[in-house]
Amino acid sequence: MSGLALFGGTPVHRQAWPQWPQSTLTCERALLTVMRSGRWSVSGLETDASPTWDQRFAEAFAHYNGVRHCVPTANGTSALMAAMQALGIGAGDEVIVPGLTWVACASAVLAINAVPVIVDIDPASLCLAPHAVEAAISPRTRAIMVVHLYNAIADLDALLPLARRHGLHLIEDCAQAHGAQWRGRHVGTLGAVGTFSMQNGKVLTSGEGGACICDDPDLAARIFRLRADGRQRVTDTVPSGYMTLEEGGQGFAQNACLSEPQAAILLSRLEDLDHENAQRARQAQRLRQLLEEIGGFAFQQTAEGTERTTLYHFPVRLEGPEFEGVAIAQVCRALSAELGCWVHPPYPPMDRFAVLAPGHSQRLLTAPRVPQPLLCAQAAHRQHVMLAHWLFLADDQAMAHVAQAFAKVKEHAHELRARQGEGQ
Ligand SMILES: Cc1ncc(COP(=O)(O)O)c(C=O)c1O
Repeated sequence: MSGLALFGGTPVHRQAWPQWPQSTLTCERALLTVMRSGRWSVSGLETDASPTWDQRFAEAFAHYNGVRHCVPTANGTSALMAAMQALGIGAGDEVIVPGLTWVACASAVLAINAVPVIVDIDPASLCLAPHAVEAAISPRTRAIMVVHLYNAIADLDALLPLARRHGLHLIEDCAQAHGAQWRGRHVGTLGAVGTFSMQNGKVLTSGEGGACICDDPDLAARIFRLRADGRQRVTDTVPSGYMTLEEGGQGFAQNACLSEPQAAILLSRLEDLDHENAQRARQAQRLRQLLEEIGGFAFQQTAEGTERTTLYHFPVRLEGPEFEGVAIAQVCRALSAELGCWVHPPYPPMDRFAVLAPGHSQRLLTAPRVPQPLLCAQAAHRQHVMLAHWLFLADDQAMAHVAQAFAKVKEHAHELRARQGEGQ
């Protein structure tokens, strides 16, 4: 085995990785149709009385998830904001969010002048720890935002009854779990509302995009208006050249509509989601086995009842004593150099995101509340390295290379410890 690629040795893997996002012929044909249609947004004028791509995607995504309604949105953040506002959450209300997730989960709460209450995670699942949620509930708590993070489903057996017992809404943030299934149902259909991000790195993407799903038609109608500047769909037939949206006059809203080209991309790529998810799951299982043979690595645990996980990023916990005292960023750099791809640590604990600091913005009326130190989120950030989902669309040989890279970095960990910060 040669020396570490980080310090000039030969990399383990030199081939290109699968590109992400990927286009398909169906996707390109659909895009061309939209581009020539004369209508690029739901807020455009009626052209030919056929359903908009936004409507077609909404129907398909609702059907895919086994739920009655879907409202596409501009991104996952606006989906969260619309969901919370549609549930009646607003100024001064508290929403419990996980201590390990993308910052938007908390900033969406701040953006509606509510208070994100940031609580710790379970060290095995890296998702919300139910006991931490229970301890953080106050008379102002209105909702629990659960995130099915990376490669796992959160502990819904505990969180669903907990939310019910305390009369709280459960919002499922499925930005990282399109297609995951738990006890016979898709995630996003178990709480009051499910939200999704279709941002560039997500397993179903239109570059930017999002959606809310729910069963309640009134809730869906409120979300629709909240994402369309308060407008709703005109119910009568609209002649060509006229608006299909009209003022709904029901409270403050913003424009957070998905565009027609984005909806066309999502509709066509939805066809590939299940088989791509299955391929990622297969290769992740292969990598798990290879890393178990090497020893010293552990994996994210999903909730009991999980029937199908999805893989957004694949966290690998470094357990071997070899890695003691080596900064996780240095391990990531070493793996990146071996594999020629992006390997990175998990999110920082939520209370470390600078944008959430109190007094940081004149726009914000509230600041996050952190009832207990986020010890497990801190440990998770120190102990894991993350592999992006598109690596798992590669072949068996690539997975063998990933395992070899982990073995090599483990064998040379003492060098990383001695040369911290080198090779940046
Ligand atoms: C868990 C989670 N929630 C919300 C978001 C926000 O989505 P968007 O970037 O589409 O606004 C993301 C995006 O990465 C996410 O991962």
